[in-house]
Amino acid sequence: MPNPNRRQFARRLVLAGLGGAACASYGLGLARGAESSAASAEAAPSIPKEEPFLLTPKPPAEPRINGPKVAGVRPGHEFIFRIPCTGERPMQFAADNLPKSIALDPIQGILRGPAPQQRGEYVVTLRAANRRGKTSRNLKIVVGDMLALTPPMGWNDWYCWYDKITEQLMRQAADAMVKSGMADFGYQYVNIDDCWMVKPGDPDPMIGGEPRDAQGRILPNKRFPDIKGMVDYIHSLGLRAGLYTSPGPLTCARFEGSYKHEEQDARQFAEWGFDFLKYDWCSYQQVAGGSDLESLQLPYKRMSNILQKLDRDFVFNLCQYGRGDVWKWGAEVGGHCWRTTGDVGLEKDARLPGFYSVGMKNAEHWEYARPGAWNDPDYILIGIVGPTRSKDRTPRPTPLTPHEQYSYMAMWSLMAAPLFFSGDMNRLDEFTLNVLCNAEVIEVNQDPLGKQARIVRKTDDDFVLAKPLEDGSLAVGLFNLAETARQMTVSWNELGLSGRQRVRDLWRQKDLDAAADQFSAKVNRHGVAMVRLWRAP
Ligand code: GLA
Repeated sequence: MPNPNRRQFARRLVLAGLGGAACASYGLGLARGAESSAASAEAAPSIPKEEPFLLTPKPPAEPRINGPKVAGVRPGHEFIFRIPCTGERPMQFAADNLPKSIALDPIQGILRGPAPQQRGEYVVTLRAANRRGKTSRNLKIVVGDMLALTPPMGWNDWYCWYDKITEQLMRQAADAMVKSGMADFGYQYVNIDDCWMVKPGDPDPMIGGEPRDAQGRILPNKRFPDIKGMVDYIHSLGLRAGLYTSPGPLTCARFEGSYKHEEQDARQFAEWGFDFLKYDWCSYQQVAGGSDLESLQLPYKRMSNILQKLDRDFVFNLCQYGRGDVWKWGAEVGGHCWRTTGDVGLEKDARLPGFYSVGMKNAEHWEYARPGAWNDPDYILIGIVGPTRSKDRTPRPTPLTPHEQYSYMAMWSLMAAPLFFSGDMNRLDEFTLNVLCNAEVIEVNQDPLGKQARIVRKTDDDFVLAKPLEDGSLAVGLFNLAETARQMTVSWNELGLSGRQRVRDLWRQKDLDAAADQFSAKVNRHGVAMVRLWRAP
């Protein structure tokens, strides 16, 4: 329901220049009297113009190792891991107790090589040093059957490039993941979505033509002249590569699907060297034979059985929009993550931007998430993106306000969601990187305990999430859904805590005063306060 007071609230907020106490010292400025030109007077209430502001402090010049503390790999399969580490370059890396089969590039900080055949936990001490200092941190490599022990992080091209994706753009995205510093925070997968294959019957010679060769092998379209070379290139940067297909005859964008070629295609993907497969339901419905649970599960079971026989590890992402309560059985059929809703870019909500409703639906399934099995609420649609709901999908700046973007990232992190940015990697601005690259926020997402936040409170105006972390602390997000800045409070009682708690503001990476029985903060319109609480000594 549209909020009748929204315009009035927004105006009041703008005129009062309310940044909220919690933000005041961080340069939050609301442009007075300015309203977004995107908001048409009749169709939607006005949105206060918020200038971008930076919450995440710059990483220190000294080395700091970020990202996952645990990684899974199958025995003997290739392990590729770029040590996520911020700090001044040049940097020198070392790794103690590294299994002999895995090599370290000490300059780039890339670990690569076959995992040991022997199953078990290998605790490697990663070390990084530069002229400013040194640091070390353990990485537990778990050789066994489990992959994606923390939510996968990376980039997917869909919401920027759609059917315009090219090999060159993918290579550029991989370069940008390193150059922008995203890889230093744990972003690792560089994934092509739909439209890398041939589109049967399309008159454009770049994408039309024969979808398979005489042996039935799937062919990339002409925008991908050297797909194997592209994957090798992504790997040479210490990153991993992903791709998309459908169990149906066609993909959602009506390109060639894998129907009746499942095994052949999976083998081809492994031969090319891919590490991640998104498997979309599209057009499979025509051949599914039913909508009962068994029919819903069948294509995913079939593909995961194939993937498990390959000599490469594939993180398997089920994309069937939550049908049949996939969170209840996604892991059983071999999925490592599964979309819980329709496309985030298509979601409409009269009151709030679409990611809130997708996020809030995804949040309900918190009990099902665990290491190797994640609820996936779709990509992080910020920065320069191509609007899905418009005929003209030319990438342009997100209409989300800065507060909404910090909320988006906080919500996905608390939900232990796969973190895939899907905006333009060639036009990453300082603000977008500030949202995507906060080591303490990401640490919550990547926490090895692998719990998804539970919903503590959900009302028209409040959404509160709490995620238990491995060290016994609790990460809490207070999301203000209302149209004006408000004081928000959560008690220890609601959070199941007792006693004095040390409080850290995660976006600002700053300790706040310890608190006896509640946390309270002024939170901006559609903004978030994200804190971590530890029992105070
Ligand atoms: C579906 C998926 C999207 C994207 C497109 C590609 O809509 O949900 O994430 O992969 O297909 O066509």
